[in-house]
Amino acid sequence: PRPILLTRHGESRDNVRGRIGGDSVLSDPGEIYAKKLANFVEKRLKNERTASIWTSTLQRTIITASPIVGFPKIQWRALDEINAGVCDGMTYEEIKKNMPEEYESRKKDKLRYRYPRGESYLDVIQRLEPVIIELERQRAPVVVVSHQAVLRALYAYFADRPLKEIPHIEMPLHTIIEIQMGVSGVQEKRYKLMD
Ligand code: F6P
Repeated sequence: PRPILLTRHGESRDNVRGRIGGDSVLSDPGEIYAKKLANFVEKRLKNERTASIWTSTLQRTIITASPIVGFPKIQWRALDEINAGVCDGMTYEEIKKNMPEEYESRKKDKLRYRYPRGESYLDVIQRLEPVIIELERQRAPVVVVSHQAVLRALYAYFADRPLKEIPHIEMPLHTIIEIQMGVSGVQEKRYKLMD
């Protein structure tokens, strides 16, 4: 059995302001998480010389992974957060106020709703296919540092959760989900590194 570690990036400045999308850097607690994550990964994977660290191409995941040393890092565009299109950079409040129809259609069918000039959850699930194929092929542990919507989709694949649940899966910050793929199926552990 070899572990796959899934984590969101450390809290970003946009997370603090409630803004979706963007490409902001980390908040102070987010920076602390990055150090704790590096510590955890170093201990957890200390005898795993061939492990690798996968991030998105967005600053917040790259910065979160930066204190981790001794493992190769790969950036995947396919691990970037759901593209919120015209809503990128807005808060949910602003969307509700300025684009009420968009807000309502997303609420009605969050899985299929596609942001104007952006993506839906179904789009994200589709673009993750090569990542999943590569994760399945790996023999060594992988640490995936990505984003809320993307990790919901990845997690659902390994935990065998139904499609319609994906947009609603809880995916908290500052928490590592460890997936163990063994002969007897998939096992899961969670490590909450901060309160
Ligand atoms: O708020 C953080 C974030 O990663 C946004 O960038 C993204 O749009 C959102 O979460 C995805 O979550 P939901 O699909 O619940 O809006």
